[in-house]
Amino acid sequence: MPDTIVRPLIGAEDHGGPVDNFYLKKGTPRQKAIARADGIYMWDTEGRRYIDASSGPVVSNLGHGNKRVLAAMAAQAGKATYAHHAHFESEANVRLAELVTGLAGSGLERAFFVSGGSEATESALKFARQYAVAKGETARWKVIGREPGYHGGTLGALAVTGDPVSHAIFGPMLKAMPKVPAPFTYRLPPNHDADSYARAATAALEDCIRREGPETVLGFIMEPVGGLATGALVAPDHYYRSVREICDRYGVLLIFDEVMSGAGRTGKFLAADHWPAARPDLVTLAKGIAAGYTPMGALLAPDRMVETVAAAGGFMHGHTYLSNPLSCAVGFAVVSEMIERNLIANAERMGALLRTRLEALKAKSTILGDVRGKGLLHAIEIVTDKSTKAIPPASLLAVYRIVELAAKRGLLLYSRRTAGGKYGEWLMVSPPLIVSAAEVEEIVELIGLTLADYEAELREAKLM
Ligand SMILES: Cc1ncc(COP(=O)(O)O)c(C=O)c1O
Repeated sequence: MPDTIVRPLIGAEDHGGPVDNFYLKKGTPRQKAIARADGIYMWDTEGRRYIDASSGPVVSNLGHGNKRVLAAMAAQAGKATYAHHAHFESEANVRLAELVTGLAGSGLERAFFVSGGSEATESALKFARQYAVAKGETARWKVIGREPGYHGGTLGALAVTGDPVSHAIFGPMLKAMPKVPAPFTYRLPPNHDADSYARAATAALEDCIRREGPETVLGFIMEPVGGLATGALVAPDHYYRSVREICDRYGVLLIFDEVMSGAGRTGKFLAADHWPAARPDLVTLAKGIAAGYTPMGALLAPDRMVETVAAAGGFMHGHTYLSNPLSCAVGFAVVSEMIERNLIANAERMGALLRTRLEALKAKSTILGDVRGKGLLHAIEIVTDKSTKAIPPASLLAVYRIVELAAKRGLLLYSRRTAGGKYGEWLMVSPPLIVSAAEVEEIVELIGLTLADYEAELREAKLM
């Protein structure tokens, strides 16, 4: 078996990522196979050990093999794995709802549990629409998204996702929603700094609402700390306040997609908690809420909105696995473990250390152009020239190559190219929330070695 396998890419210069999501056909060179995982480590079937430095796709917040979660899973499985919510309430659902809404705080008193981030986005969009209809605001249906942004792979989620490459393919099948620029802080248009560009981005939101007709605009959806689409983008504080004010001015619902940033990852239970002046109306969660132990997502909503929809006949939306007892029991164990072990505070502390170490690496490395993020949701952006911020040629698929080189050094990193690399190329550095200081040091050291490997390749190919 070769050391690493280049994952097949179709039209990779133009497309966002690998399209080998079907099980590989017979005879295809195999990807490395997982044997077992424990804590922040994973082992392949050939005995090689890897540090899970991105928590897979930023999901494994507790690390792997957590005994309490496995015991809760077995205990619930022994009682009842599935019971339809129309037939039964489950204690697991009640406990999880109380725990999560308690942590989310006032204004987010109700939880609706689904099977992942895309389902959570769909639920948020449909719930927002039904709320407007219940209030008699039937003209409101447009949900503005950011360009770039990511809210899931289903068609409704794709409609609010800012990804021109996906829209070029799937556009005819969906009702594309208006987009406004994401408030990038590094790769800025001429004559802008991060502050002025964030102001331009909020002005663009207000213009967009006016242009579309405020009475037709239902919501604005954004990732408060960016995921893969923007590489852990954090806007200046005033951006969040302004967005809230603009939404209030036009009666537009503010929806925070916290599929990646929620559940403690940024050093607060919700990333929204970093900006109390920008409290969202609706929040979606997934990933960290069950930390990869079961597929799970959630929509959090205020009592008042749920009651309005309930009075109008109830939420006309659901999925078979909605609030299923097994997933809720697992989610409850995951969130309880996170709270009892103070992992949110650890995310804040280790995030600060990670940031310091990555900044130090940036000062040394010639290809690390930017470090950004919050808590344990960080990204590093790759350039071939720091002064011009030049992007590696698209044909190099730079970040995928770096992921391969990192794996050779026993480090797993997650990346996906947004819009074919148009906005830059970055890798997520987002280890599990259980990570220790020594492990953060080791991760950054391995990243430094990996970047040096890649730089050597670029120099050998005379691309630097
Ligand atoms: C911000 C954000 N929203 C939504 C999704 C979709 O979640 P899922 O892949 O669980 O459907 C993702 C997945 O990466 C995400 O990062």
